[in-house]
Amino acid sequence: MKLDEIDLSDIDGFWTLPMSVRDAAFETLRREDPIRFFAELETEYLAPGPGYYAITKHADIVEASRHPELFKSGSGVNIPDLPPEFNEFFGSMIALDDPRHARLRKLVAAGFTPRMLQRNMEDVETAAKTIVERLREEGPGCDFVTACAAWLPVKIICDMMGIPESQHEFVFDMTNIILSQGDPEFIPEGENPLEAFLGAGAALAALMDDVAGHADGGDGDDLTHALVNAEIDGDKLSSAELQSFFVLLCAAGNETTRNSISWGLTYLSENPEQKALLQSDLETHMPGAVEEIVRLASPVIHFRRTVTRDQVQLGGKEFNTDDKIVMFYGSGNRDHDVFDDPYVFDLTRDNKDQIGFGGPGPHFCLGAHLARRQINVLYKELLTQLPDIHASGEPDRLRSNFINGVKHLSCSW
Ligand code: HEM
Repeated sequence: MKLDEIDLSDIDGFWTLPMSVRDAAFETLRREDPIRFFAELETEYLAPGPGYYAITKHADIVEASRHPELFKSGSGVNIPDLPPEFNEFFGSMIALDDPRHARLRKLVAAGFTPRMLQRNMEDVETAAKTIVERLREEGPGCDFVTACAAWLPVKIICDMMGIPESQHEFVFDMTNIILSQGDPEFIPEGENPLEAFLGAGAALAALMDDVAGHADGGDGDDLTHALVNAEIDGDKLSSAELQSFFVLLCAAGNETTRNSISWGLTYLSENPEQKALLQSDLETHMPGAVEEIVRLASPVIHFRRTVTRDQVQLGGKEFNTDDKIVMFYGSGNRDHDVFDDPYVFDLTRDNKDQIGFGGPGPHFCLGAHLARRQINVLYKELLTQLPDIHASGEPDRLRSNFINGVKHLSCSW
């Protein structure tokens, strides 16, 4: 694809291309115009914004992530400027700047300490075992995504928050809608996707409100109890903050982990010698495999920042107030300047600089340890119970420029 044929705003035209074509297009961008301007497309539901600069080099993504005072999150982290009513459910800390961001992050970080995570280690192991047992019962030929990959993240987030088992499927369905970007499998033809997102956000918020009501003043040991009753310097989370945090957790923690697990099966199946190496010593090689899966999958395709002042420099270009820059993590994770043979799945590579969980800075993924743990434990269980499991078809990808999603993937053993 030539440079002037690449249009990152064209969801159907660009983002449904085979992965190899997409990769080659980003390589062209990195080589020929690493910070290229794209117009925003007009959709039926949103007026077009002013356009954005696509940041495709690793070094520039890292630089922008490190400088929230120059590149802020508070005007939104997706490309379009969303209508203000969205802030109620989708305005949690990912789309805030300091001091509000720091305050919220401090309050909720209490739930993600190594001690809290250690406590739920056993839950992750038990859940992974049950999920793989259920997959075995489904039998070869089943859909790996819906039978296996999707369930661990939903169950872990819901259990952490004290959401009853009977509601897990509901949380799963609402999350699918929020991150579907209008993919017709999740939002029926003719339905306004913005209304569907809002409806799903409101439904999750109402569920959280109910669960939080029971936790207020109680002494349960889930995260909701910790958050409802957490106090730092006399400061507490409001119920609206708790609701939008839960919506963020569902959105940020479910699909990303699910898609890592699904892409992982594809990569291991395409690279039998890497799978054999992993299986030769699961304990030793799993952390490297997890990191390499997240690097190559880069489940979050982009996040946006907005420039806070005039004459800001990045990657040799100058930006002005309100310019939008969009960081393409998968492109940064395939940058030859940082990774040798970047398209090769190599679980022994040094991945300390991979940016699948975001660049270094205040918004670095809060759930990175939890996600790594889930992928690690699930793959150990999978490769122990079903050592010859493999993908038996191509991944059926989500039509999206935001989530590098796998909707379905047939598997066999
Ligand atoms: C493989 C799985 C995951 C990937 C690839 C991923 C990716 C990311 C990325 C790229 C960011 C950076 C946002 C930015 O810079 O604007 C982020 C932030 C965040 N992630 Fe994750 N994530 C994953 C799993 C999780 C899980 C399991 C949770 C929680 C249960 C979670 C919760 C969050 C939260 C709360 C933020 C916002 C942090 C802030 O703004 O301070 N993520 N994630």
